[in-house]
Amino acid sequence: MTRRVAIFLSGGGSNMRALVASMTGEHPARPVLVFSNDPEAGGIAWARSQGIATEVVDHRPFGKDRAAFEAEIAARLVPYRIDLICLAGFMRVLTAGFVGQWAGRMINIHPSLLPKYRGLHTHARALEAGEKEAGCTVHEVTPALDDGPILGQARVPVLADDTPETLAARVLEQEHVLYPAVLRRFAAGDRHPIYLP
Ligand code: GRF
Repeated sequence: MTRRVAIFLSGGGSNMRALVASMTGEHPARPVLVFSNDPEAGGIAWARSQGIATEVVDHRPFGKDRAAFEAEIAARLVPYRIDLICLAGFMRVLTAGFVGQWAGRMINIHPSLLPKYRGLHTHARALEAGEKEAGCTVHEVTPALDDGPILGQARVPVLADDTPETLAARVLEQEHVLYPAVLRRFAAGDRHPIYLP
């Protein structure tokens, strides 16, 4: 049975594009929706150009009422009969209420080797700490931020002259390899973590 995937993003969506490109042929999943909290997100324009359905719920009118924002998201998802949610550069924290409804069916990519560097500015923090390697992690989403069971990791070396930008670019390349590899397994019900290289 083909798994129906929604991809959530807030920005350019390079991870979304890599996921969409991977879901072809024998792949057990297909992208049926690209969702954003930002009407200007570049990933929304790209998805539309590819004929993929999109939905946008701007979070700003909801202010601090996260529950109301998430209730609107949940309502928009219903017609698409979504089986799995992939967060891919989605920059809003989801409450335990929403996360609980998608337990075991929502995954996220985070640009660090969790459990190190949860939260933001991961590359600057890794450089500040003098790390010799960095990378990215795909994990199941649980109510605690960047904390769920790890489904995959990819490592990259930190170079002496790295800046947060050069390190981010090196990690992002690996994100585009790791996330599709994990989704292919996760969509087939395989939760065994994979480690690259
Ligand atoms: C990536 O670094 C990802 O790890 C983080 O946000 C960024 C998303 O980039 N969650 P993109 O929008 O997929 O290009």
